[in-house]
Amino acid sequence: MSIIFNEKTRTFHLCNDSVSYIMTVLPGGQMAQLYFGKRIHHSEDFSHLLEFAFRPMTSYLYDDDYKYTLEHINQEYGVFGSTDYRDPAAEILQNDGSRISDFKYQTHTIKSGKPSLLGLPATYTEDDSEAETLTLVLKDPVNGLVLRLFYTIFAEGGIIARSASFVNEGADDLHLTRAMSLCMDLPDSNYEFIHFSGAWGRERHMKTRRLAQGIQSVGSVRGHSSHNHNPFVILKRPDASEFQGEVIGFSLIYSGNFLAQAEVSTHEETRVLLGIHPHWFDWKLEPGETFQTPEAVMVYSDQGLNHMSQTFHKLYQTRLARGYWKDKERPILINNWEATYFDFTQDRLVDIASKAKACGVELFVLDDGWFGGRRHEKAGLGDWIANPDLLPSGITGLAQKIEDIGMKFGLWFEPEMVNKDSDLYRKHPDWILKTPNRSTSHGRFQYVLDFSRKEVVDCVYEMMAKILSEAKVSYVKWDMNRSITECYSAALPSDRQGEVFHRYILGVYDLYERLTGKFPQVLFESCASGGARFDPGLLYYAPQGWTSDDSDAIERLKIQYGTSYCYPVSCMGSHVSVTPNHQVFRSTPLHTRANVAYFGTFGYELDLNKLSEEEQKEVKEQIAFMKQYRRLFQFGTFYRLMSPFDGGSTAWMVVSDDKKEAVVGVYKVLNSANMPFTRVALKGLDPDFCYELSTDGKYHYGDELMNAGLITTDSSAGELASGDIPTCDFDSRLFILKASN
Ligand code: DGJ
Repeated sequence: MSIIFNEKTRTFHLCNDSVSYIMTVLPGGQMAQLYFGKRIHHSEDFSHLLEFAFRPMTSYLYDDDYKYTLEHINQEYGVFGSTDYRDPAAEILQNDGSRISDFKYQTHTIKSGKPSLLGLPATYTEDDSEAETLTLVLKDPVNGLVLRLFYTIFAEGGIIARSASFVNEGADDLHLTRAMSLCMDLPDSNYEFIHFSGAWGRERHMKTRRLAQGIQSVGSVRGHSSHNHNPFVILKRPDASEFQGEVIGFSLIYSGNFLAQAEVSTHEETRVLLGIHPHWFDWKLEPGETFQTPEAVMVYSDQGLNHMSQTFHKLYQTRLARGYWKDKERPILINNWEATYFDFTQDRLVDIASKAKACGVELFVLDDGWFGGRRHEKAGLGDWIANPDLLPSGITGLAQKIEDIGMKFGLWFEPEMVNKDSDLYRKHPDWILKTPNRSTSHGRFQYVLDFSRKEVVDCVYEMMAKILSEAKVSYVKWDMNRSITECYSAALPSDRQGEVFHRYILGVYDLYERLTGKFPQVLFESCASGGARFDPGLLYYAPQGWTSDDSDAIERLKIQYGTSYCYPVSCMGSHVSVTPNHQVFRSTPLHTRANVAYFGTFGYELDLNKLSEEEQKEVKEQIAFMKQYRRLFQFGTFYRLMSPFDGGSTAWMVVSDDKKEAVVGVYKVLNSANMPFTRVALKGLDPDFCYELSTDGKYHYGDELMNAGLITTDSSAGELASGDIPTCDFDSRLFILKASN
């Protein structure tokens, strides 16, 4: 890996074995993008990659130049209004009412390692040799605003991490009304735009459409990254697939409002923008103040989507997630939510935990309903003190009881919320986000605490830290069940109200930072009404997240498959729940529910006492199986093989680092009769290893399994031989492969 600066041509070349990223200083001082893609040889001069032309009705920046227009130059951080007409990376409202900017190169630094971003989650290095960082310093000579563009290239993988910071070195206040983390101008538009959209219960469904002239975008203005869209998009060449061809993934390490956009000009250039959504964003920058954007990560792959995903998985698992749990196998848990909802007693909880312990479960999680007056959705949020009627010896007593059974204890919080029927609200009615003289909308009868205020975060921290200090709590589920409305902070002046959405998220990160710092061995799982804040920002603090409230195995195929495009298996909270399922009322076989949940953190969302003895026996076997293969599932290399978005069958697999072990999951939706023979071409095996297959006990070489394929034909292909198990709707199978040498 290296960052080469050619002083004569003022060109930068960031490269490692996988990628090259080349840019240059234009004669006018602006930064131009020359190339981003597969690694190419270094050359002293790349200036020929810049093309200029005279075009009618185009505007030119300098009097004496008839070709210098920013409209047709691929830029590093384009701004609107002086010859560039595309959506800009930044927009600055100045004291005189103007919004024109012109950032000109001043200087740069190249350093090994990667600086952290104050108050914001970001990828990191453990050793300076893992990455190099280029900081470009640009300045607007008129208003004195300094723009720093940060580029980190990692030693391995096609990864470039980017962010921007603004320092007001002028004499007047400025307002940033747009400050994207990344602007990436590509020379053509021959791409498909892939994004992951959905809603509650069906998060991160993959959507693909052809890029076309004009703007295509996804984003969130709900105050959190949302169920609806994820801060992750992909540009894919039309001929690229899961295993070959060019793709670029763009991921924003942020949990609040975001915009991910691709704009194709009528000359077929593509501008990608990624960052905080400019809608309602207005950050006042007084002289001397700095604003830092969140980090955006680009991953280039010339080996298709799987390779891009594996690069993100490794980076996010090892250099975004932090702390005690990041590399550890995750405890198998049981959560009482779907088993009891609010209707529980301490005895009932202990019963659930005891049976789970007998089956091999390691962690009992008490979900919503244990605190304040919380016997229903209308009361209690904000009062993080155990309800003595329910839990006579408090959380300390219950946690001890669970520990005495031989399990770890976990607890649910929803730190950012308050019900009006709560002591916290009665004491501090001005602590919620609400706009003066307007009604304040609720979501699930709850209101959003103003986390842009330090005293609010301090108060919630004190309540949570008290419980975590006094009781033996090993796990925290941090929930967040509504989007923000009427966003306004009573603590900020009118000209800073455009800062509230971002300050809110900074408050969330601050609380996470304090709690994970004070309780480093507690495992945090993020959650937001299922997967409404399943983003890389939270992965920095909580190494796992509740993927979706939809725990139906068949629905989960799409949700987990879609999620896997950016996020590793180790961070996907996935549980076995009852049938009929509580979200879609579907009944699926118990083995299928487990076969899907194994590809995640694994746990149960039910009362095992209510299962038949036969089912309890099966659960015990599932848990023993997961314990045996947990490291492989959670930390192996994950491959997508057959997409649930393409039809009724899904297949995926994990392979160990040494390629000696693999597990393949094959799933079907509806059964049919008289069907074809089926095979799945496996991936990632060693072609020369001979693998024993769990299903038939026979040996097959890796090259056979990857080329001729693994035979997955089931009884739907014809009459059963005696002893064959008939297949059914929602059936699934796991194939375990072990190398014999
Ligand atoms: C939404 C979460 O996604 C559920 O798992 C559960 O914790 C409920 N909230 C509790 O209110």
